[in-house]
Amino acid sequence: MCGIIGYAGPRKALPLVIQGLRLLEYRGYDSAGVALGGSGSIRVFKKEGKLANLEAVLPASSAAKCGIGHTRWATHGAVSDANAHPHLGPAGKVALVHNGIVDNWAELKRELEAAGAAFASETDSEILAHLVERELSRLGPSCPRSGAIEAVAAALGRVSGTYGLACVFADFPGLIVGARNGSPLAVGVGEGECFIASDPAAFAAHTRQAVFLRDGELAAIDAKGWQTRTLRGEAVLRGAETIPEAAGLADKGAHPDFFLKEVYEQPQAVERTLGGRLVREYGNAKLGGIELSPREMHGISEVVFLGMGTALHAAMSGKALVEAWARVPARAEDASEFRAANPIVDPAALYVAVSQSGETADTLAAVREVQAKGGRVVGLVNSVGSSLARLCGAGVYLHAGQELSVAASKSYLAQVTGCALIALSLGRARHLSIGEGRRVVDELVALPAKIDEALSLRPRVEELAARIASPGRPAPSVLFLGRGFLYPAALEGALKLKELSYLHAEGFAGGALKHGPLALVGPETPTIALIAPGASYERTLSNIAEVRARRGPVIAVCPGAPEGLREEVDELFALPPCMEELAPVLELVPLQLLARSVASALGRDVDRPRNLAKSVTTE
Ligand code: AGP
Repeated sequence: MCGIIGYAGPRKALPLVIQGLRLLEYRGYDSAGVALGGSGSIRVFKKEGKLANLEAVLPASSAAKCGIGHTRWATHGAVSDANAHPHLGPAGKVALVHNGIVDNWAELKRELEAAGAAFASETDSEILAHLVERELSRLGPSCPRSGAIEAVAAALGRVSGTYGLACVFADFPGLIVGARNGSPLAVGVGEGECFIASDPAAFAAHTRQAVFLRDGELAAIDAKGWQTRTLRGEAVLRGAETIPEAAGLADKGAHPDFFLKEVYEQPQAVERTLGGRLVREYGNAKLGGIELSPREMHGISEVVFLGMGTALHAAMSGKALVEAWARVPARAEDASEFRAANPIVDPAALYVAVSQSGETADTLAAVREVQAKGGRVVGLVNSVGSSLARLCGAGVYLHAGQELSVAASKSYLAQVTGCALIALSLGRARHLSIGEGRRVVDELVALPAKIDEALSLRPRVEELAARIASPGRPAPSVLFLGRGFLYPAALEGALKLKELSYLHAEGFAGGALKHGPLALVGPETPTIALIAPGASYERTLSNIAEVRARRGPVIAVCPGAPEGLREEVDELFALPPCMEELAPVLELVPLQLLARSVASALGRDVDRPRNLAKSVTTE
């Protein structure tokens, strides 16, 4: 989850490292730090809190030409200055930044303490710095620069767990050694300079040539170039790849936060997901990245969507759409539970990994498990060139655009749209008539304009938010109810509200209401009912009546405002009419606006909710 950036070359390292950290802060923002490598010593600066806190304690300038930086999301040890990275070895000969978890930290710590080591932090990462320094001292004072790589490799030979890490050395000025096992790391190859980062976006403004390390590999960089090898010492001969153009530090424009900006970008995001992929004549979708012939699609036994958080909710919509349009058995699996349960993998099934970042550790691990058992996985990924996109090797890019706010918004709409494209193309190969296919195509084409229209609900949503966030008496909980296609949307609406506002929110299927959640209903607890004309309409109306009979206020969100609905609820947010299957896309818009307005009324940091990070790169 943490962000790593390093620079070695002729330029001053500090401003480049800070610039990289700014681009990486979305990965974690508990604390941040930098280490500047020099001749004979290393200077470390680190501070709890956001990057601005670190900047306040940095020197005005530094001549160092080599440095590493880290932005932390705490896994091991509280959020504090001491636990912030980089960590120094006991003699100050190495400084190390780490993303990942050392599984055998307790055993290693005991061993080091028995040999007299004292630790300055509670982190598992500091143990790595001690191990590297111990290996360096074993090699002796006259050890050549290559010894630094040997020392890191030998130290990591003792470690089980995950790491993306980078080290600078007091006695090897200008050298950075990095290593990867389970956490991403890439080398940026510039003209007479090199970078190392957990996300190439951190150096893309300086070079678009990147070498992506694989698990069990190390890299050494300096102004002269780079070399890679395995932990066991075998050379790795892999060339650099060209990465997408630098997105740079995005601008919020006229919006107060990235979340709201990204919500307003949704019509364009969905338009890009659809771009060039719909073939109206055949009522079909053309997904170049999946490359399955109609015959192969016909042979698919089951579709299994994998994802976490918001991506899991989109995956659940994918399951519902595939079953509705293709009549192929489908399921959506929480990637972390899936991979932990020794899954039964069917080579005739199609596995679809859904992810915005393409760096979610659990989703990556689930994909590896499927691949190891002979399964076929495609990615539905937003981030071009991400670990997941490269691991799957085939799939559909969402093209939703860069999403910086920690809470997902436009990526969710794009993911559901991407699932709809997969369901449509499978459907046309199996079950759906050309006429039904054309109807779906027409509905998809019309979606961006309808999303735009849904955004105009904002002033009314803000009034509702002010009531929910009422000063001194915010709602104790907000319930989100939906059935069928709208059940995953109810879960997503609740997730948005809880992660942005920290209020308790719960999403559930309408059918579950009487099996427990009804106990939460009362005059203080609003229920947001997601409803759409179609198979579940009448039953959702019954749920609404059950809630209101217990004096629970009901706010309904519905495409098309069917006759009589207004009288059945306390408030109605009417959306443009759309087919029931695509209602989750439209209905999320007012829910996102609601979560954001409640959070802002409660004074929350909308873009960086407490305790969260944009990419969950540790399991
Ligand atoms: C949702 O707002 C969160 N950002 C989180 O649930 C996220 O969707 C999840 O961590 C999966 O991330 P991914 O799409 O990058 O894989």
